[in-house]
Amino acid sequence: MFTIRQALPDDLESITAIYNETILNTTATFDTEPKSAEEQNTWLAGHDSQYPVLVAEQDGHVVGWASLSKWSDRCAYSGTAEISLYIASAQRGRGVGRKLFEAILLEGQKGKLHTVIARIVEGNLTSIHLCGSAGFTQIGVMKEVGYKFGRLLDVILMQKIYPNRA
Ligand SMILES: CC(C)(COP(=O)(O)OP(=O)(O)OC[C@H]1O[C@@H](n2cnc3c(N)ncnc32)[C@H](O)[C@@H]1OP(=O)(O)O)[C@@H](O)C(=O)NCCC(=O)NCCS
Repeated sequence: MFTIRQALPDDLESITAIYNETILNTTATFDTEPKSAEEQNTWLAGHDSQYPVLVAEQDGHVVGWASLSKWSDRCAYSGTAEISLYIASAQRGRGVGRKLFEAILLEGQKGKLHTVIARIVEGNLTSIHLCGSAGFTQIGVMKEVGYKFGRLLDVILMQKIYPNRA
């Protein structure tokens, strides 16, 4: 079994290892260079109760993380967040992603967010499925905006608006 909790600075090494593996081996993120510890410290410091980071922990090890990050620093966007979700490669397909995804969306609902946007690379059917099952709808496709591993890539935009929000 695994538990889900707020991310702490001590989790950054594991969070970074999971993310860097995904950077190097997949098109799920359009980052292409591994993140340094310093960059990751800055990233975590930019999150709070409105823009949370959660981890899934199993037997004392972080096996996945999820975040709601500011969509933009421009203040009128303050009710809008972008969702991220990454599970350690050896732990994928066991339901951890589903649980973290639901938990981070609930955190967003408790806070002051109005809407959450997901940017999903073409062909990431698991992410499209997760978003579709949680009330996200497709709002567009950005054609050929990414180039990674020798391929031009489309990005699907999906959005969830929390009910009963101003
Ligand atoms: C995408 C990711 C976060 C999902 O986490 P996971 O733990 O592997 O996923 P889960 O085991 O919880 O499965 C999630 C759902 O996707 C479904 N699924 C799995 N493969 C699928 C596929 N090929 N097509 C459609 N649905 C699929 C599962 O059946 C499950 O559905 P359910 O909860 O309705 O039963 C994880 O695989 C990952 O980290 N991938 C690399 C990084 C990434 O793509 N991040 C998202 C960037 S937008």
